[in-house]
Amino acid sequence: MTAIATRPEAPGDEDAIDALTRAAFHHMPLSDGSEAETVRRLRADGDLPLSLVAVNMDEAIIGHVAFSPVSIGDDTPHWFAMGPVSVIPLRQRAGIGSRLIESGLLQLRRMGAKGCVVLGDPDYYHRFGFRHDPTLTYPGPPPEYFQRLVFAGRTPHGVVRYAKAFG
Ligand SMILES: CC(C)(COP(=O)(O)OP(=O)(O)OC[C@H]1O[C@@H](n2cnc3c(N)ncnc32)[C@H](O)[C@@H]1OP(=O)(O)O)[C@@H](O)C(=O)NCCC(=O)NCCS
Repeated sequence: MTAIATRPEAPGDEDAIDALTRAAFHHMPLSDGSEAETVRRLRADGDLPLSLVAVNMDEAIIGHVAFSPVSIGDDTPHWFAMGPVSVIPLRQRAGIGSRLIESGLLQLRRMGAKGCVVLGDPDYYHRFGFRHDPTLTYPGPPPEYFQRLVFAGRTPHGVVRYAKAFG
């Protein structure tokens, strides 16, 4: 596999992240095509405390993961949502998404986060430690697709609300 590296997004990366996100979600059956715009809005709203890109040896951006703050019904602070996560179609299933997610979760912990939620396929996100908890809910999608990972402190309960960029 070609060498890749991860780094925080930098000024000037916005259009490449946008294009990558559109390409990654283009053929996804559950996508409504809004993911790239969501990332832009998170950034504009100041709700993108952690945004990592994966770059190849030519410094081209081939993967991206966003983390944004969430609020929880019981007011547990310092929790975040992971996503969207994107890898360019030609390089999917080569470990890039896993590398981005592991690196992002590690940095999130270092930033003092107490935990993270994700909405997605449990078959994929279980490998990073995410688990469904029926007491922490997100209305709409099948419940088992909403999962959480506790870093520290108490396990929160209640309804989770994403940043307003998610609509
Ligand atoms: C999901 C995504 C980020 C994963 O990145 P990746 O680099 O392709 O994944 P990795 O190489 O790290 O992991 C590959 C493993 O994940 C599995 N996998 C990849 N995408 C998956 C998905 N959507 N659902 C379930 N499993 C998935 C593969 O089967 C493979 O499993 P294996 O290790 O048992 O063989 C990437 O495929 C992508 O951009 N998909 C389109 C956008 C998307 O669905 N994003 C996630 C929702 S926010």
